[in-house]
Amino acid sequence: MPEDPRILQLRQMRAKALAGGGADKIAKQHAKGKLTARERVETLLDLGTFNELEPFITSELSETTHEQYLGDGVVTGYGTIDGRVVYVYAQDFTIFGGALSEMQSHKICRVMDLAMRNGAPCIALLDSGGARIQEGVKALGGYAEIFRRNAQYSGVVPQISVMLGPCAGGAAYSPALQDLVIMVEKQSFMFLTGPEVIKAVTGEVVDSESLGGSEIHMCVSGVAHLAAASEVEALQTARHFLSYLPSNNVENPPYFPPQDDPARMDEALNHLVPLDPREPYVMHEVIESVVDAGSFLEIQPGWARNAVVGLARIGGHSVGIVAQEPAVMAGVIDIDASDKMTRFVRMCDCFNIPLVTFVDSPGFLPGVAQEHGGIIRHGAKLLYAYSEATVPKVTVITRKAYGGAYVVMSSKYLGTDVTYAWPSAEIAVLGAEGAVNILYRREIEAAANPAAERLRLAEEYRARFNNPYFAASTGYVDDIIEPKETRPKIIAALSALRDKFAPAPPRKHGNIPV
Ligand code: HXC
Repeated sequence: MPEDPRILQLRQMRAKALAGGGADKIAKQHAKGKLTARERVETLLDLGTFNELEPFITSELSETTHEQYLGDGVVTGYGTIDGRVVYVYAQDFTIFGGALSEMQSHKICRVMDLAMRNGAPCIALLDSGGARIQEGVKALGGYAEIFRRNAQYSGVVPQISVMLGPCAGGAAYSPALQDLVIMVEKQSFMFLTGPEVIKAVTGEVVDSESLGGSEIHMCVSGVAHLAAASEVEALQTARHFLSYLPSNNVENPPYFPPQDDPARMDEALNHLVPLDPREPYVMHEVIESVVDAGSFLEIQPGWARNAVVGLARIGGHSVGIVAQEPAVMAGVIDIDASDKMTRFVRMCDCFNIPLVTFVDSPGFLPGVAQEHGGIIRHGAKLLYAYSEATVPKVTVITRKAYGGAYVVMSSKYLGTDVTYAWPSAEIAVLGAEGAVNILYRREIEAAANPAAERLRLAEEYRARFNNPYFAASTGYVDDIIEPKETRPKIIAALSALRDKFAPAPPRKHGNIPV
């Protein structure tokens, strides 16, 4: 029987939609080592689960000013990742460089709305020249529609951006509003104004890589969270990240029965912290040893390296790890470290991921640059975030917890549920030398041998404060544990806190000091 002509027409239309900007443009995309939008979606999702929506939409201007492209530069729809529903959109660079039009915005907003209504993550695969110049204000308004949804759905469903090409102008702001930004090395660039605009306005000559490549956003600006060596790796990273998150803010993160013994103790931890307080050790070793083997996914590993944040599993449950790295700037807290930790604490709190904090910090970084840069405002964000977080919170003080660093790093009376200290913990307002210089200035000056007197007083101070016993005797830590016990102790604490119920007082929203 001959095929029904209407079926044939549908097949033709679908073939046209699948051709995107045409064979030449697709070949150009492949020649750059890049996948097409549909190939990316297929790579991201579980095999064969993608269902496309609105493939026949075209730009209003198509009929008159440009050639008609079905889909209008974005592929949208839904599918699954590890069996859980996700919504996805992928900009199609073969159509006007993936530039955002009014109708493209309509398509994107539609999947964002569906993701929100159905409590499922929304993943953006970006490759775009920003607002579509031919559409003027309509393209700008289209971005506003997306940004509003990014903000309103923040903390309700996970939003992830994978940057797979240029992301200029508005294409950079939407990722900045999302939970996670993944870039591809040497392939994705993110900037508000590109090299040509910069040259025209300021005369400065700069290339895309050194303006907004992955290295810059991973190590200098802090805008990106993870980078991958290839597109496929970036898409796999998005899948991996989602495995730690619930689909929405009323679910719990998925549980993976642990392969790693919950009672495991690591003798090496008992020998990790050097006796000399000026000698560093590597906090990453503590984290790797305590969490389920191989489960630590560090976020923003190259930026503000004096602080460490990342997702892990412990006893099979997702946790957010926040720590200092004493091997970098002695683990001091500066402006960037404050911002990095704050953002992460808030992400974990909105997605019901308990927080485990490891503390070893001499305090906030002193200096004019930090004070003038607003370290008070930035540090206040971290205080705010920990105080506001209602997820289970466990803290382990491994060594220094001086002054502001003690208070700000999830200390007991910021609302932390269980606080442990290692025997190497030093909990005090100031380090010994600084403290005796202030407390005993006159006595030291009057002494026959001021240097010897300073040393004697510092030793006395250390004996009193540079240990966890004063804090334990006054209830400021819950217990002092052997370092090797840390894993089972954290697992026990988190299981005792699993049903924590800590409703916040009703309010419209707080006023975090941004
Ligand atoms: C319409 C665009 C476009 C745009 C690219 N194209 N950007 N069309 N609007 N914004 C088209 C090109 O004309 C070209 O069409 C095709 O996409 C591929 O672009 P190329 O330039 O050939 O590619 P490439 O050399 O890889 O360079 C990519 C690029 C560059 C870096 C993105 O095209 C670029 O700088 N574009 C402009 C970026 C920009 O300034 N956008 C506006 C930002 S303002 P043909 O037909 O030749 O293949 C903005 C406002 C929102 O977004 C603000 C919200 C806060």
